[in-house]
Amino acid sequence: MAVLEILTFPDPRLRRTTTPVTEFNAELSSFIDDMFDTMYDAPGVGLAATQVGDTRRVAVMDCGGDAPDPIVMCNPEILWQREPVDVDEGCLSVPGHTDQVVRYKTVGFRAQDRNGAWYECEAHDLLAQCVQHELAHLYGGLYIDQLSHLKRKRIRKRVEKTDRTDGGA
Ligand code: NI
Repeated sequence: MAVLEILTFPDPRLRRTTTPVTEFNAELSSFIDDMFDTMYDAPGVGLAATQVGDTRRVAVMDCGGDAPDPIVMCNPEILWQREPVDVDEGCLSVPGHTDQVVRYKTVGFRAQDRNGAWYECEAHDLLAQCVQHELAHLYGGLYIDQLSHLKRKRIRKRVEKTDRTDGGA
């Protein structure tokens, strides 16, 4: 169990695309535990392997509320999505900033758990937002990619002066 270092924008490692998880072993399980420790320590509601410099396609989430928490997503895929909405979003890798982006209010996704078993889930609201956010991370995306270039430049300047933010993913 360990708290890992969270990479911050504009670290180029956040732009890497992950590769599918193929080895569901004790090492993966211990890495997933470290990801949960790191996410809860931040604190945040989601964390993707990309954010801690690992290239495996795995993310963890715990959004509380009605969501079946905590959730491990290995090799997640969105199956369908419904009703785009404007939402406020933040990210542990973009400390000190939140902004409005467009996300689907409800998504259906499938993923494998830490043992490699596939499951399907219908996610709503914050959990749906989190699934989309983490999935983007796993392909080198950040929510601020939805913002203008000028805005990203301003955010970059600010992030370089800030340390941490709470409540991101
Ligand atoms: Ni994030």
